[in-house]
Amino acid sequence: MRILGIETSCDETAAAVVEYKNRKFKVLSNIVASQIKIHQKMGGVVPEVAAREHVNSILPVIDKALGGKIDRIAVTVGPGLITSLLVGLETARTLAYLWQKPIVQINHLEAHIAAVYLLNRTIRYPALALLVSGGHTELILIKNKKYKLIGSTRDDAAGECFDKCGRILGLLYPGGPAVAKLAAQGRNKIAFPRPMINSPDFDFSFSGLKTHLLYHYAKLKKRYSLADICASLQEAIVDVLLAKSKKAAEKYQPETVILCGGVAANQRLRKKFQKNFKNFLVPKIEYCTDNAAMVAAAAYNKKPVPWSKLKVRPNAIIK
Ligand code: KG4
Ligand code: ZN
Repeated sequence: MRILGIETSCDETAAAVVEYKNRKFKVLSNIVASQIKIHQKMGGVVPEVAAREHVNSILPVIDKALGGKIDRIAVTVGPGLITSLLVGLETARTLAYLWQKPIVQINHLEAHIAAVYLLNRTIRYPALALLVSGGHTELILIKNKKYKLIGSTRDDAAGECFDKCGRILGLLYPGGPAVAKLAAQGRNKIAFPRPMINSPDFDFSFSGLKTHLLYHYAKLKKRYSLADICASLQEAIVDVLLAKSKKAAEKYQPETVILCGGVAANQRLRKKFQKNFKNFLVPKIEYCTDNAAMVAAAAYNKKPVPWSKLKVRPNAIIK
């Protein structure tokens, strides 16, 4: 079965073809048109601008991804920016109608988890997934093909914290990769707060860390290099993510621990998780940040819906 995946939930226009054969996944094409350069001017994603860019890019991107025939279409319906989602969904709907192909609607969060399918490794259940992206920080227990949300951020997401701190530090959007790059040259010298690290639940809070940096940056930059500030910030975020994941693993005893979402591209985070969990899976870097191969992968065992029934779900949750 060849699946065409389409992803436009935020600021990447993406299409991919994934083949599912003999219980193995093979990525035949994976095209991502990033809007980063456009949004850098404003320091963040402007929804209307993002939607217009998706309109410009979606057909060329799909064209590039397509090789031979496909058997079904998978499209992200949410969560995400409503006007961005609509571009992908209406394009997918039209193609499904024209080509008379089944269409599957995909939850973006589920797609981030499905990125590990592309490793073709056995996933033993129950599995515990830490999903860390620009919009989400969630600990999810996967058992009997069901998702159970056991903890999430009460304010900013981990990626959002990286991005907002990057902005305070005068780095280009998105702050995550920019902070990580500088952090690699610095040392963890500053004891930044680790919000909620000892709270008895599995929730997170990152907005206080950003505020702390905002209040103290003027003083800190006199004493420390930008690289050291970045390394210390990264360490604080990684510490909290790891501590809460370890705590959840102790309670739920998962057979597999999964790290996914855009922040899972962070090398320090990957390394720390690798060291701390025995049965650990993380997607290849290119399948951590938004892409359509993960959307196609999530669709292999899902029931298609009639094209006329497709609907965007900007506030979808995972369930
Ligand atoms: O999954 P994603 O591409 O989009 C959403 O669904 O949100 O995640 C984007 C987020 C951004 O906040 C970005 O700064 C962060 O992932 N990110 C990183 C790294 N690469 C991307 N954060 C830390 N280190 C990285 N290397
Ligand atoms: Zn995402």
